[in-house]
Amino acid sequence: MTFRDFMSAALFHETHGFYTQAPSIGSPAGPFNTNAKFTAFGFGVAQAIEQAAHILGDPIRVIELGGGTGQLGSCLSSFLTIPHEYLVFETSPGLRAKQAEKGLKTVETLKGLEPTATVVFGNEVLDALPVHRVMGLANEEICELYVDLDEDGEFCEQPGTLSNAKLHQRLQDERIHLGRGHIAELCLELTPFLQELSSVVKPGYIIFVDYGDKASNIYSYRHRNGTLRSYYQQQQIYDPFFAVGQQDMTADVDFSAVIAEAAALGLDLAGWISQGAWLTNLGIQRFVEAGDDSRSRQQEVDLLIRETSLGSAFDVLMFKTPGLPDGPGLVPIY
Ligand SMILES: C[S@@+](CC[C@H](N)C(=O)[O-])C[C@H]1O[C@@H](n2cnc3c(N)ncnc32)[C@H](O)[C@@H]1O
Repeated sequence: MTFRDFMSAALFHETHGFYTQAPSIGSPAGPFNTNAKFTAFGFGVAQAIEQAAHILGDPIRVIELGGGTGQLGSCLSSFLTIPHEYLVFETSPGLRAKQAEKGLKTVETLKGLEPTATVVFGNEVLDALPVHRVMGLANEEICELYVDLDEDGEFCEQPGTLSNAKLHQRLQDERIHLGRGHIAELCLELTPFLQELSSVVKPGYIIFVDYGDKASNIYSYRHRNGTLRSYYQQQQIYDPFFAVGQQDMTADVDFSAVIAEAAALGLDLAGWISQGAWLTNLGIQRFVEAGDDSRSRQQEVDLLIRETSLGSAFDVLMFKTPGLPDGPGLVPIY
């Protein structure tokens, strides 16, 4: 099978998939830490949604993508003061159940939703979309890395011809040349995923927070083994065949591809900024002033905005439907 199909099964298989089993994302015993566990993050994102709502006019619909345990959704919506409907779009039934326990309304597909004024927000969702793995060969050729079983019945990698011509096209469009042995992960899921979003956001903003970079950096020789990695009990590991279904698997997001695919769907880029600068511009410091426990609140804020921590680990990529002003949080307003 392609690595894309293997990753899809490892994460989303109906019984054994990592996300299907509703992992305790964000808890100390969970697989990894996310922004979503910090109340200050919910506060910051709520400011962005409120600013977007002032442009769109209320009431608005807020769609959170991939809501995890529902921690961010319940925190974020508690900070929203504008009239709104809050929906979590989540593919994992186990996580949908956790989100519902926190009082969130969830959907497993966006199909059937009316197009309306909407702000979509997704923290670390693009990085969970399954990727193909390709590798450079001699003579400017590339092959795809498939997953097979060896004679002992263990997973192994197997090179083969490309399963989809779009893989080659993507690299050509991005002017990426992979030297011999250079591995790259390519996500073709972006097209249907963004298509589904753009069909219901009319008008509105789509905001992604994730780790990634432009194609020329992600596919540079610095990452000649690709950026695929796994998280297992708070440890980062580099073996996709270890503890399959128990570990999260992810790759850096190719922001150039996201921008190109969004543009093809008629969405304009409304901003690209580091998480630290974005939250600072949105006035996250007011979160500290709004409570008595200012010391622990300041610690949360520092963790989220500092360049040496999550502030530069994540970027914010925003899209808008044509005719709207640029996205919230690009310039300081406090
Ligand atoms: C890395 S987790 C992030 C969870 C949460 N946003 C957070 O920051 O803690 C990825 C989330 O996206 C969900 N997900 C993955 N693919 C999805 C898709 N195509 N549509 C909607 N949700 C998806 C997963 O089930 C999971 O909830």
